[in-house]
Amino acid sequence: MKHPITLQVNGTAYPIEVEGHLSLLDAVREVVGLTGSKEGCDDSECGACMMLLDGEPVNSCSYLAVQADGRELTTIEGLAEEDELAPLQRAFLEEGGVQCGFCTPGMLISAPALLRTNPDPSEDDVRIALSGNLCRCTGYDGIVRAVRRVAAAEVA
Ligand code: FES
Ligand code: FES
Repeated sequence: MKHPITLQVNGTAYPIEVEGHLSLLDAVREVVGLTGSKEGCDDSECGACMMLLDGEPVNSCSYLAVQADGRELTTIEGLAEEDELAPLQRAFLEEGGVQCGFCTPGMLISAPALLRTNPDPSEDDVRIALSGNLCRCTGYDGIVRAVRRVAAAEVA
C-alpha cells in the first residue's frame, strides 16, 4: 500500500506516493529523481547516502521516506548557489579531497554540519566529525585540509 507524503528537498516540495518500507535514499533518488546522494553499504556504515534532515545529518539508507514527511531535507544538490560552487565544494576540488567522488556527497553534507557547531575545528575535530563517512580513495588528508581551509576563511 502506498502512502502520500511530501518531501521538502532543497526548498522544493515534492508530493509523492511511497511504499511504507521505501528508504529515504531510494525515495529521493528514484522517485524525486535527485541522484547526487549515493548508495554504498545500504547499512548505515559508509555515509555516502547522508542528507540533512531538519538540519541534522542522517544516513538516508536507514531512514524511511515516510519518516521524513513534511520535514526539511538538504542533499548535495542543494549546496551550490545558482551556478556557483559552494566554498566547501571548491575547496574539496582544489585540496585533492575528491578522487572517484563516491563519498563526496556525504562528506559535503557532514562537513557543514560540523562547521555550524564548531567554526574553527582542529584536524582531529574534522577527522572525528567525518568518521561516519568512509573514503576509499583520498586517504582523507585532502578532505581535512579542505574543511579546515573553509573554516579558516570564515573565521578570518
Ligand atoms: S549507503 Fe547509507 S550509510 Fe552507506
Ligand atoms: S573519493 Fe573515492 S571514495 Fe572518497
